Amino acid sequence: MDKIKPSAIQSNAVITAIGTYVPERILTNTDMEKLVETSDEWIMQRTGIKERHIASDSQFTSDLCFEAVHNMIERYGVSVTDVDYIIVATSTPDAVFPSVASQVQSHFNISHAGAADIQAACAGFAAAIQLANGLLLSGAHRKILVLGAETLSKITDYTDRTTCILFGDGAGAILMEASHDRHGDIEAVYTKTDGSRGHLLYRSSLASAIGEHDIQTNGLIVQNGREVYRWAVSHVAEGVQQLLEKSGYTPAEINWFIPHSANMRIIESLCERTGFSLEQTLSSIKQYGNTSAASIPLALDEAVKSGFVKPGHLLLLYGFGGGLTQAGVVLRWSF
Ligand code: UT7
Repeated sequence: MDKIKPSAIQSNAVITAIGTYVPERILTNTDMEKLVETSDEWIMQRTGIKERHIASDSQFTSDLCFEAVHNMIERYGVSVTDVDYIIVATSTPDAVFPSVASQVQSHFNISHAGAADIQAACAGFAAAIQLANGLLLSGAHRKILVLGAETLSKITDYTDRTTCILFGDGAGAILMEASHDRHGDIEAVYTKTDGSRGHLLYRSSLASAIGEHDIQTNGLIVQNGREVYRWAVSHVAEGVQQLLEKSGYTPAEINWFIPHSANMRIIESLCERTGFSLEQTLSSIKQYGNTSAASIPLALDEAVKSGFVKPGHLLLLYGFGGGLTQAGVVLRWSF
């Protein structure tokens, strides 16, 4: 098995708590029918999405993060004041700086923590776990707060029916700790990037071109849905297989497959191509839509709350999207 943990380092990086939050306001497919020419039937059939949660005008990604961390503290009685690093994966920070992670540090009065946002689009949460794992295994840090959070509704073009039906808002938080004795571990990681296809899915900012491709500069999400779909069902499926190979496990040995909730048809196709059954696959697509960096923790937490995910279970988390990026981890659940 191709384990990433150097043998000289004794402690494991273990997930010890989880919390989530979605805004109260719900945008259903019926609501969507009033915004653009579409139908509940088309959206359900093509994406599997029924509704999404949408932040209020005064709610930003940092607010969703605060709520997710409060939820985690309430449920597990954990302390975050001794956290020594905070990573927030998001493509929708309140501002470019200060980072959302800095705002989480301030809100919870965490006095001795480093803080950084990372942006790897829908691969962000899995990428953040990989980074936290490295910081914990290296001995640089002991207790890290990792979040995936988005307010995609703020950058969605509600006149474009090919994208606006997809996106929703939400946040998930986990605690990751260096531990010698708890049963749990990040067992394998995999990453891949194809920047040459970055123009297929972007949110414009300062530049008006990505590589040789002219792009729109309205600050909203722009996507070539068909091309991203093709990439997801072929290249992402290959990535999942690479991660399985690195971990040494077969799909049957993994208890739960948690791919990014991009589209139910993509998830079904990934299952077909990689050997996972739909019964062992978790998704947050139906209730929450595509919430980018928040989609994996939202799906995971639903299963934790339902008692499906149990101590000792093996999980394969796999994020993919804008960049085009991929990031996956195989981990053993500890609680
Ligand atoms: O998390 C980031 C990664 N992003 C993704 O994973 C998104 C990947 N792509 C997708 O999920 C799908 O491509 C979409 C859901 C965006 C679109 O589904 P599709 O099955 O690929 O539809 P399509 O683009 O091939 O369009 C089929 C038809 C077109 O009409 P014509 O040309 O056949 O007459 C579209 O104009 O559906 C039409 N259409 C719609 N009809 C009703 C497109 N959007 C809508 C809509 N409602 N919202």
